[in-house]
Amino acid sequence: MALIVADLLFSTEEGLASKNKAIAFSHELHGANIGLDCTHCHTGARLGYKAHFPSKQDCLDCHRIPLTDSAGIPKLDSALQKAKAMPWQTESRIPAYVIFHHGVHAKANISCETCHGSLAEIDRGKRASVKMGECLACHRGEKGFAPSATDCARCHR
Ligand code: HEC
Ligand code: HEC
Ligand code: HEC
Ligand code: HEC
Ligand code: HEC
Repeated sequence: MALIVADLLFSTEEGLASKNKAIAFSHELHGANIGLDCTHCHTGARLGYKAHFPSKQDCLDCHRIPLTDSAGIPKLDSALQKAKAMPWQTESRIPAYVIFHHGVHAKANISCETCHGSLAEIDRGKRASVKMGECLACHRGEKGFAPSATDCARCHR
């Protein structure tokens, strides 16, 4: 119990597979200035298991033409030109014997930010916790959400 209580809601891990260092992307800049919905790019996050990442075409929808005169724009253009169709990949950090479904959590009205933190934190590489103790803390009702499954078979296959 003490261990679980001492656990933070988030853990920080850098260098995950989603990173594509060739293409700069800032959530904070896009979120604050454009107000794009998360699921515009993470199409699975509302209904699916995986949230997924955008395609290169999703970026080109807006970046067909130079949007500003910032030095970041020509760099982006050349990086997108070289990139493959799906520049970002998902590599799960959850063991295969665990079930985690984004859609059931979205349906329960848990915001992305509850698990992922702010846009600035996402940009800094902070990642949602995948520790059993932290899943269970919320499922027991300790985080202000309705209690949910705590029996082993609901999360384990
Ligand atoms: C314009 C497309 C776009 C929008 C809109 C967008 N994202 Fe992203 N998101 C990305 C890209 C691209 C990456 C991968 C960036 C990287 O790793 O450098 C990413 C990565 C992430 C990650 C890290 C995933 C991981 O574990 O590696 C999270 C979490 C995330 N986004 C959440 C959100 C949330 C929450 C919102 C809405 C507030 C949002 N995103 C809106 C494009 C987008
Ligand atoms: C809905 C339109 C839209 C989409 C989709 C979009 N962007 Fe942008 N992006 C913008 C706008 C507008 C700016 C300029 C914002 C500003 O400077 O205030 C921008 C700026 C940028 C910049 C420049 C930052 C700098 O240095 O000034 C980069 C890099 C960038 N976007 C990358 C991406 C990537 C990668 C994707 C796809 C994952 C993407 N954008 C998708 C509208 C979009
Ligand atoms: C209940 C907590 C929780 C909520 C709410 C949540 N996520 Fe996640 N998210 C996670 C966990 C845990 C992972 C790691 C999954 C893995 O490694 O398999 C993850 C992974 C991701 C990833 C990495 C790639 C992928 O396909 O899974 C993205 C992107 C992402 N989430 C975006 C979002 C967005 C956008 C929202 C809101 C619509 C959201 N998440 C809501 C917990 C959550
Ligand atoms: C911030 C709170 C929160 C966190 C963190 C969280 N969950 Fe949940 N989860 C919920 C809620 C609330 C529901 C209930 C949805 C419902 O009953 O409709 C749920 C439902 C589920 C379900 C479906 C249960 C069923 O009824 O069959 C599974 C499986 C699940 N979560 C797995 C996980 C895993 C694995 C993690 C950690 C990686 C996690 N959850 C983290 C709040 C959370
Ligand atoms: C809310 C979802 C959830 C429930 C309910 C749950 N687990 Fe887990 N469990 C996880 C996650 C996520 C992991 C992988 C991350 C980790 O090891 O903390 C995990 C990992 C484990 C591991 C491997 C730990 C290790 O150190 O390798 C065991 C054993 C385990 N669970 C047993 C159980 C048992 C027994 C129950 C029922 C009393 C249970 N779990 C209920 C989510 C859950």
